[in-house]
Amino acid sequence: MIERLYLNRGWTFKNEKDTLIVDVPHNVFDLKYNYLNEDDYQMISSYEKEIEIPNDYIDKHLFLTFDGVAHKSEVYINDKLVITHYCGYDRFVVDIKDYVNYGNKNTIKVIVDSNEKLNIPPFGNVIDYLTYGGIYRDVYLDICNNNYVKDLFIKPVYENNKWYAIFVVSLSELSNYKLDIYFNDLKVISKDINPNKLEEEIKIEFNDPKLWNIDNPNLYKAVITIDNDIKEETFGLRICKFFNDGFYLNNKKVKILGLNRHQAYPYVGYAMPKSMQELDAKILKKELHVNAVRTSHYMQSKYFIDMCDKLGLLVFTESPGWQHIGDDAWKAQALENMKNMVLQYRNHPSIILWGARINESRDDHDFYSKSNELIRSLDSTRQTGGVRCYTFGEELEDVYTYNDFYDPKEKRGLAPKKKVVKGNIPYLVSEFNGHMHPTKMFDNELVRTKQALRICKGMNEFYSDGDITGFFVWCMADYNTHKEFGSGDRICYHGVLDMFRNPKISSYLYSSQGSEDYLMLSSHLNIGDYNASTIQSIYAFTNADEVRLYRNNELIKTYHKSDSPYPHIPNSPILIDDFVGNLLEVKEGYSHKVAENMKAVLFATLKYGNRMPLKYKLMFLRLMLFHKINYEVGYNLYGKYVGNWGSNEIVYKFEGVKNNKVFKTIELSKARYLHIGLDVSSNTLIEDNTYDVALVRIKALDQNGNILPYYNEPFSVETTGNIKFIGPNLLSFKGGYSGVFVKSNGKGNGKLIIKTEIENKEIDFIVK
Ligand code: GAL
Repeated sequence: MIERLYLNRGWTFKNEKDTLIVDVPHNVFDLKYNYLNEDDYQMISSYEKEIEIPNDYIDKHLFLTFDGVAHKSEVYINDKLVITHYCGYDRFVVDIKDYVNYGNKNTIKVIVDSNEKLNIPPFGNVIDYLTYGGIYRDVYLDICNNNYVKDLFIKPVYENNKWYAIFVVSLSELSNYKLDIYFNDLKVISKDINPNKLEEEIKIEFNDPKLWNIDNPNLYKAVITIDNDIKEETFGLRICKFFNDGFYLNNKKVKILGLNRHQAYPYVGYAMPKSMQELDAKILKKELHVNAVRTSHYMQSKYFIDMCDKLGLLVFTESPGWQHIGDDAWKAQALENMKNMVLQYRNHPSIILWGARINESRDDHDFYSKSNELIRSLDSTRQTGGVRCYTFGEELEDVYTYNDFYDPKEKRGLAPKKKVVKGNIPYLVSEFNGHMHPTKMFDNELVRTKQALRICKGMNEFYSDGDITGFFVWCMADYNTHKEFGSGDRICYHGVLDMFRNPKISSYLYSSQGSEDYLMLSSHLNIGDYNASTIQSIYAFTNADEVRLYRNNELIKTYHKSDSPYPHIPNSPILIDDFVGNLLEVKEGYSHKVAENMKAVLFATLKYGNRMPLKYKLMFLRLMLFHKINYEVGYNLYGKYVGNWGSNEIVYKFEGVKNNKVFKTIELSKARYLHIGLDVSSNTLIEDNTYDVALVRIKALDQNGNILPYYNEPFSVETTGNIKFIGPNLLSFKGGYSGVFVKSNGKGNGKLIIKTEIENKEIDFIVK
């Protein structure tokens, strides 16, 4: 292309009720956080915009491109229909050169149907996600010469210990061109090509290959120049393949640890610009330390996938759908979607697996034979998967990808491969947990911890089971959904993060898998939050060498990695279940043996109450007979050391220690001085091709920096200057956390003012 003009600004948006001037990304309806009505975004609406087409563009191609419009679009140029497109999750392009008036103003009009009744995927039945509506990704006009590169597909190859890339170049006209390859902006290869055919493969050897992998995601750029027309593609040198014993990236085995992601945000649904799409990838890789993501259940923003390329985050992507398979027309559209998925995303090194099925749909031999064949014909460098929620399905794909949910007795975490697949086929768990244990930020600690422990169980089995190549938990963040799913308030609380990407306890497990020092606890040790006021055990999510526990400044016990019931997880969470240590010896003067027996009896009382097993009853009897401990003494010791009921304040302190140095101290005491903590994704907003958005994650903290999990108070937001906020101005904390999306509104400075009853906060932004 010679030039790209972004057309994101200043569309006249109309529906039955309103006429507004909007910028894209845009959602057809401003939604509530929860208790929203999913009928509100189902409508026919229109977007209209005038563009001037200068005379210089005569004899050029004018490719009008929509990166994503949900869900059916009719595009008119000067009132003439130029294309009808039927998928809400892919790019579509139309050459408008024969429809425009040169040297004049032209009208682009898009009629968008966002009804869920459309006979296209993912519709046909109720689905567990909202589908929103509108022009929610970029719109641009690519101006190309008649001689231009129609497509460039780059296939990495490793042969006889040498690295190559095959450039499949497809030209509009036969013409000579230059192929330059850059690494870090330095030209490393340059070739003049005189092709014989419109589509040709050029194989180039890389003598000093910089491979793409999850730790060093090296990227190359290929630039093809024909006169002043340029085609650029980013690519990575890497090969990947699933085998029965694991997934291999550049012939090295990688255990795939992933999360599922919906591209959805509060209030605006899918309509978030580049920076927010990128932020999700960064959160996955840098905060949650996973190495993979599944773009459930559709193709996601190219900005998100670009960032996965840059960060070394592996991607399993699939086309839109959810359990339902429709009629022949519907299936034809599903195949068209899969074709576009491959054609539009196949240069991304991060993508390692294509979904060749509609998520969790039934077996359909003909349909899925075709989908597999189609995908393989378009990309020979990757394998196919197809997500099932049932065992022993037809094995048409290269990898059996299974949503492993059902375990009524909660005995196991994951099903062994042999209980899921018949054949000799690589196996991957594409979903786990999710609706089996929904968890709200404001649930009690036991519920929140249980979500984490369920995932621990699955993850522990994943790491010890060589047959399971990957483990994707459902899911990254809570998401809005239909009434039939979730908690009735139109939210599925299945995330390890909330909708503002704030952490639940389950996310600590992920965050502790990184290399930077990390220690978080599953508990605030408030007995009143537990049934019968008993806390038997808590977990430290950490990568520390050891965790030291102090009670009122006295060292109780030093815990190690070996104190984990989940030993196969690389940084296994540590079980902390002794809050007494040797205090019965030191404070009460008992011998070591008597103190240990007494402790066992006290813990058994905590655990079993009146139903204490005989073993402990006999132990207590012995203590009574031989050590002058009567019932009253036992009762007092229980109250003082174990029950803590009505005792003086106990301050617990935990130290995370690495290389004999304390890197973090967590102090759990009465919350006295409250304050507000902020995490701002960026104070600089860039008004580039459209508006920009920053996420401000907000938390209510005590004097020790601990979250206040039941702080649910209201707060208000205001802005001055060149920013606005998305959503209402009166919000509330939910389980100690909340968030505000800040949107740029022209270049200059802006201020966000957050007013809470604890304190007010001001955050400065610069819009460039
Ligand atoms: C799966 C489905 C996901 C989500 C999940 C909830 O069956 O594929 O989209 O609904 O259940 O656990």
